[in-house]
Amino acid sequence: MLVVIKKDYEEISREAAHIVAGAVRSNSKIVLGLATGSTPLGLYRELIALHSAGDLDFSQATSFNLDEYLGLPASHPQSFHFFMQNNFFSQVNFPPGNVHIPDGTISRDYDAYCARYEQCIKAAGGIDLQILGIGRNGHVGFNEPTSSLASRTRLKALSRETVEDNRHFFANESEMPKCAITMGIGTILDSRRVLLLASGRSKAAAVAKAIEGPITSSVSASALQMHADVTFIID
Ligand code: F6R
Repeated sequence: MLVVIKKDYEEISREAAHIVAGAVRSNSKIVLGLATGSTPLGLYRELIALHSAGDLDFSQATSFNLDEYLGLPASHPQSFHFFMQNNFFSQVNFPPGNVHIPDGTISRDYDAYCARYEQCIKAAGGIDLQILGIGRNGHVGFNEPTSSLASRTRLKALSRETVEDNRHFFANESEMPKCAITMGIGTILDSRRVLLLASGRSKAAAVAKAIEGPITSSVSASALQMHADVTFIID
């Protein structure tokens, strides 16, 4: 595990963009695993700036997002589809056909849908570089505490803490979904390289447990200790 300590959020975002841009330049057909949330916003801004300056080309890249809220269509402003379109894809030359985000509108046959998402990652050659944020409870993706460390893409109930952290984004708090479709910890561990970004005091305890604590399903991110190529960029 490589732990890179930066002064602040801006430096984290620049360092992460430097790593992602380097990976895209050295492999134009890269398969990226992408995250939503406030943490990667700075990274996406930096990547957009590099693309706008003519320094970064995503025309052959492929992406798989970690997760999506169950019940939200792509047009919902709090859906991760909307987030990715708004904050990244609309401003770079990522081929729309190469973008994969779990479909929050499915209402049955969840296991078959999730198995197809896994199959699709496999068919693309696996994820070369997975970007992660981390929840205050140590979740990565929506792998809430007690998720199996071998879990694959599946439907997952959100923890009370996650619902509390995110419900203020919804105009009517009761609209906050209670479930999500998320890649599993096993899916994330299959990525060739993992980059986890975390900024601020509210994440400090989770980051410390993930890096220095025991490997436990109580802190999903601690499973990353078993991965051979993980970089944490933190402040
Ligand atoms: C997002 C995701 C989540 C977030 C985590 C941190 O796709 O899977 O695990 O990375 O909840 O969220 P922020 O960055 O908003 O603090």
